[in-house]
Amino acid sequence: MSKNVIVVGCQWGDEGKGKVVDLLAEKADVIVRFQGGANAGHTILFGDKKFILHLIPSGIIHPGKLCLIGNGVVLDPFGLIEELDLLKTQGIDTEGRLFISSAVNLVMPYHKLADSLEEKKRGGDGIGTTLRGIGPAYRDKVSRRGIRLCDLYAHDRLKAKLNEYARLNLEYFGGPDGGKPATEEIYNDLMQVAPILRPLMTDVSIELQKCHRAGKSILYEGAQGAMLDVDLGTYPFATSSNTTVGGALTGLGIGPKMIDEVIGVVKAYATRVGSGPFPTELQDEAGKKLRDVGGEYGATTGRPRRTGWLDLVVLRHACRINGVEKIAVTKLDVLDDFREINICVGYRLHGQDISEIPLDMADLSQVQPIYMTFHGWMSSTTDIDSFKLLPENARKYLSFIADDLGVKICLISTGAKREKTIVI
Ligand code: GDP
Ligand code: IMO
Ligand code: MG
Repeated sequence: MSKNVIVVGCQWGDEGKGKVVDLLAEKADVIVRFQGGANAGHTILFGDKKFILHLIPSGIIHPGKLCLIGNGVVLDPFGLIEELDLLKTQGIDTEGRLFISSAVNLVMPYHKLADSLEEKKRGGDGIGTTLRGIGPAYRDKVSRRGIRLCDLYAHDRLKAKLNEYARLNLEYFGGPDGGKPATEEIYNDLMQVAPILRPLMTDVSIELQKCHRAGKSILYEGAQGAMLDVDLGTYPFATSSNTTVGGALTGLGIGPKMIDEVIGVVKAYATRVGSGPFPTELQDEAGKKLRDVGGEYGATTGRPRRTGWLDLVVLRHACRINGVEKIAVTKLDVLDDFREINICVGYRLHGQDISEIPLDMADLSQVQPIYMTFHGWMSSTTDIDSFKLLPENARKYLSFIADDLGVKICLISTGAKREKTIVI
């Protein structure tokens, strides 16, 4: 493994980034989150324990590792404290090894309220957000009226910002004085958590530069996936951050040479939670089987995930926009019992065959997938620990994907637990 590795999702999130980061974290010194917020749900299983991390880097499970949250994240301060408490009850000591950028924008209760009100207003045309206040929090950040972590310790500035927010949002919350939610109540709640967060506050950019200069190994943990990127995903059915490598540079305050290698996480089939185009979606028995066998229910919201065949058009796009050189293929075991497996190799659009994704969602909604059918392997892969011992049809399936994308497979996951992994 290279020294400084970034792990990004190549589909619509939930590819198994948590498991991959947990594995790579063993050899890393520092693990960092750079974008997104508590919309993420990264699952880690080891021994008889299960952890679902939303804001805190997955490396926290490894004793002694330094974990950082960069300025590009939108941080729900109350959610963070809940997550810290839960980790404590699960026997994870985070003391002195979790730090947060003082420039991180905070997700406020009114952001969550706005998220759900806006989804309600959209009715059937909603995005299907996680209702974690992500879009409204990023909107305030770009509008330059967001509340940052450092604002909690500048009381007049904080009060002014809260009042300004309430004034601007009468249409949502109704009534003078900000109506609902009450500014004063939020201020008081923030004052409760401020002393807990103060010792965690740092300049992540400077910390990372120090670590890099000291020869430490940094692991960058992406959230969501390429197709949810606000610029390059299936806009507007996307999240509100850059989920691709560019997001790491701005979300941490680092230069490109701080990253040596890009690992894309690819689920062996496709899933999506929430609305928006999904060309290879299956509405049939095969789709149901993928959901049941793969346990495809959201780690954050519990919603059933939509399921479909692997889509190389999506993956070509994800690899290009991230500069992916290696992929980690997850959940191969979920395909163990399929007699036939399809891979989408292109789309048909208005009578023409295309091999790259159309950026206009109206077009993407109309494409017909072109499939290549592979014979399944019809045997368990879950205890296999080397590539050459995999069934021939599984090797053919994987090699076809890697060849098409022009990447190497560095890791194959054949079960949710740490040890169910083939390292190549
Ligand atoms: P993330 O958001 O990318 O970290 O992925 P999630 O944690 O939301 O979803 C991945 C789900 O698949 C979790 O329940 C994992 O425990 C599980 N998982 C990860 N890798 C594998 C695998 O190789 N096989 C199986 N069966 N489950 C896996
Ligand atoms: P991880 O890191 C899967 C989806 C939501 C919705 C859209 C916008 O676990 O892979 P948002 O709440 O961000 O405004 O919702 O993005 N979404 C995810 N889907 N995995 C995630 O994170 C996601 N985070 C957001 O379902 O469609
Ligand atoms: Mg997830």
